[in-house]
Amino acid sequence: MTIQIEDMQKPDKACTEHVLTFFDGSTRTVYVTEEELPFPDGKLIVSRTNLDGIITHANDAFVKISGYGREEVIGKPHCLLRHPDMPKSAYQDLWQTVKAGNKWHGYVKNLCKDGSYYWVYATVVPNVRRGETVGYTSVRRKPSRSKIEAMITQYAQMKAGE
Ligand SMILES: Cc1cc2nc3c(=O)[nH]c(=O)nc-3n(C[C@H](O)[C@H](O)[C@H](O)COP(=O)(O)O)c2cc1C
Repeated sequence: MTIQIEDMQKPDKACTEHVLTFFDGSTRTVYVTEEELPFPDGKLIVSRTNLDGIITHANDAFVKISGYGREEVIGKPHCLLRHPDMPKSAYQDLWQTVKAGNKWHGYVKNLCKDGSYYWVYATVVPNVRRGETVGYTSVRRKPSRSKIEAMITQYAQMKAGE
């Protein structure tokens, strides 16, 4: 089942327009600004999804930095946060890894409701109950500035090759 995500509202500041195409072929128009939000000190940004990547839980830090209300994120596909600077192959790697029952680590640039963005270092794990995977959890930590700079270059190269 496809859960449609609404197009973003155009922010009232300088922004660029992008049309994202998701894995299932659906599209979303997003607006991106150059404003970076700092990762909240001393916090972890946590979400859980079902097997299809639909958000089932989000902690307060997740909701706050995203700019959405909790009711706007729960029940939505996690690609609600996808930023156009992220290469598709990063998510393909994530899904392949967790579907195989393994832990995925990676750097992610996420898009907020108002077009700003934030970087995270994410660890995504399968949630296993009685031997069966029932969903996934992502725990995000603050990434170092030097790693963010390296990932900006690496992801731009990966995107150019897609
Ligand atoms: C537990 C979990 C957490 C995820 N967290 C994010 C996230 O923070 N940002 C994001 O863009 N995608 C996240 N994803 C990946 C999305 O499900 C999706 O693959 C990605 O946004 C790209 O969209 P697409 O696969 O439809 O092309 C997460 C997936 C899982 C299973």
